[in-house]
Amino acid sequence: MKTFNDPEAFARVKRLPPYVFTVTDRLRDEAIARGVDVVDFSMGNPDGATPDRIVERLRSAVGDPKLHRYLNPRGLPELRASVSRWWKRRHGVEVDPEREVLVTIGSKEGIGHALIAMLSEGDTVLAPAPTYPIHAFGAVLAGAESLPVAVGPGVDFFESLVAAAERAEKRPKGLVVNFPANPTAAVGTQELFEKIVRFAEARDMFIVSDLAYCDIVFDGPKAPSMLAVPGARDRTLEFMSLSKSYNMPGWRVGFCAGNPALVAAAARVKSYLDYGLFGAVQAAAMTALDECDDEVVKIREKYRVRRDALVRHFGAAGWQVPAPAASMFAWAPIPEPFRQLGSLEFCKRLIDEAGVAVAPGIGFGPAGEGSVRIALIVDEPRVQLAAERIEKFLKKGPGGR
Ligand SMILES: Cc1ncc(COP(=O)(O)O)c(C=O)c1O
Repeated sequence: MKTFNDPEAFARVKRLPPYVFTVTDRLRDEAIARGVDVVDFSMGNPDGATPDRIVERLRSAVGDPKLHRYLNPRGLPELRASVSRWWKRRHGVEVDPEREVLVTIGSKEGIGHALIAMLSEGDTVLAPAPTYPIHAFGAVLAGAESLPVAVGPGVDFFESLVAAAERAEKRPKGLVVNFPANPTAAVGTQELFEKIVRFAEARDMFIVSDLAYCDIVFDGPKAPSMLAVPGARDRTLEFMSLSKSYNMPGWRVGFCAGNPALVAAAARVKSYLDYGLFGAVQAAAMTALDECDDEVVKIREKYRVRRDALVRHFGAAGWQVPAPAASMFAWAPIPEPFRQLGSLEFCKRLIDEAGVAVAPGIGFGPAGEGSVRIALIVDEPRVQLAAERIEKFLKKGPGGR
């Protein structure tokens, strides 16, 4: 009799390593269970409440029986119209809500299914490294492979892209980009986006662009949209999420827009898998996109204040954390005497000995080693508490407990 006692007996699962964060999450939870008051910077999980207007719209929409049914799997036409207005207002880009927009169950689901739609066994796709896991592992879900493109502080992303394409044994089918970036907080410029589109045109590649943090920019110009580049629409699918801009991570609302054939390909795969979002959530998403620009400003400001507090207090404690220009993360090199421990061991020690949780860089792929990601989800008083503990931890050095 065949027994099932190892999920990795399945070839696809074997290629999906367990999230490294499960290790640090366990250590954090054990420390909390021991009574340690852990200051937790480890998750990219917006902590604020969803704005009242959006919650109220959900409350009123939930009573409408029309919204209780299976609905259009591409998303309600009214929500697609809101998405189209968002792109016009935010990026000056016209998208046709009928053919060029798809509503997704959060952008993670959308990116994953779009890559499944566009890639097959034997294909490759260029993806940033280090990066948010679905950018690289969407290819694995599709039976394909991703090829790393270095991104991060001091790295010229375009040069990395060219080098990665030259290293590739055969032409990659597409490329994934994410600016502002998780976890490195790297930002993209209009000029970079133009070069990426020309690069993809020359090699006949598709582009998946992830704008999840495009509203969370503190310094410099606003984050550009790939779709604003002339010619991009021939080959681009661009994703946006309501999770960060409107504090709605648990609602699972995202959307994408771009080339009609790429939209249709992703929609075809999704049509076999889901019926889209609960209609009342879609109604609330319309309120977010159409009426809550002021809330986005407040949310961005909250992250900015936290960023400034983090850089100031950690710096005073002896850990010079580069100030991120965008995103809800700081990407910090491990302090020198601890670097040889590696990011996972450093994070374990920081939880155990200082009661401070951050995410190990290795969790975002081998290219993330040497750094940790610090999420801007903690207000100043507890940032200060964390910094006081870190100061003592750093003074003891890697040998001391
Ligand atoms: C870069 C990036 N893209 C996409 C997502 C997924 O967001 P969503 O909640 O829309 O699935 C995240 C979430 O952390 C992210 O960091």
